Amino acid sequence: MSAEAEADGQSSRIEINGVGKRYGDLQVFKDINLEFREREIVTIVGPSGCGKTTLLRCIDGLLPVNEGEIRIEGDVITQPREGVSMVFQHFGLFPWKTVRQNVGYGLKLAGAPRAEIAEKVPYYVDLVGLKGFEDAYPYQLSGGMQQRCGLARALTMEPSVLLMDEPFAAVDAQTREILQFELLKIWRMRPMTMVFVTHSIEEAVLMGDRVVVLKGRPSSVFEVIDVDLPAPRDRSTLAHPRFTEIREHVWTTLMDEVRAAEYELN
Ligand SMILES: Nc1ncnc2c1ncn2[C@@H]1O[C@H](COP(=O)(O)OP(=O)(O)OP(=O)(O)O)[C@@H](O)[C@H]1O
Ligand SMILES: [Mg+2]
Repeated sequence: MSAEAEADGQSSRIEINGVGKRYGDLQVFKDINLEFREREIVTIVGPSGCGKTTLLRCIDGLLPVNEGEIRIEGDVITQPREGVSMVFQHFGLFPWKTVRQNVGYGLKLAGAPRAEIAEKVPYYVDLVGLKGFEDAYPYQLSGGMQQRCGLARALTMEPSVLLMDEPFAAVDAQTREILQFELLKIWRMRPMTMVFVTHSIEEAVLMGDRVVVLKGRPSSVFEVIDVDLPAPRDRSTLAHPRFTEIREHVWTTLMDEVRAAEYELN
């Protein structure tokens, strides 16, 4: 465990040691070393195609790594693991299931008793603001509501690790802002290790206790930025001078990469 994690009294929950991933001849990333603590939100940004989704899938145990190892609570990950939930970019809902059935799906699959499902599903449906829509099908919901449903499904599993792959990318700006603050509120009620991939630098800084910047080809960790902004984060955070400072820093770091890619193309 790092001195930093120990200093704030938290153990590390996820350790990524020298991890590399290849698809055939394509080396997506290499030598990734990261540690995520028990109760923190780490956001990941990086150019499109640098391997953010791939990394989440490796942590989730859906994809094997080619070099190094990923450990969760000490165990090397070789397959999906209890306590780890993922929220996908495109909701990942079953169109033929209602909100209630979609939210309860994970529990049902895990073989949870009927009584537990009957208790937890309404609780999380309510928590994400979908009360009254239990019997609706995904096509009857807005994008924001579908994302709430996907989030509720992950939360019903009461995960200790929540992996989120651009969860709010497909919703409009206002809904996105509402969902961001609601997610932070939910996280404060039940803090866990949250790894949150986003294309939005603003979102990365707003949500993250730390921001990981992936860069290069193959990519690796270019920088890990501590977001020393006051908690709880709310709308006023967006106007904080330090927020602007960190956002500009991340932006410049990423733009260098985009410019370099353009130069190569020319
Ligand atoms: N199943 C696969 N087989 C082969 N190559 C893949 C596969 N999945 C992803 N790739 C390639 O690996 C690289 C990383 O993909 P990945 O989806 O992880 O990137 P990303 O950072 O999530 O991108 P984005 O920001 O656009 O979502 C890309 O070059 C992609 O084409
Ligand atoms: Mg992706």
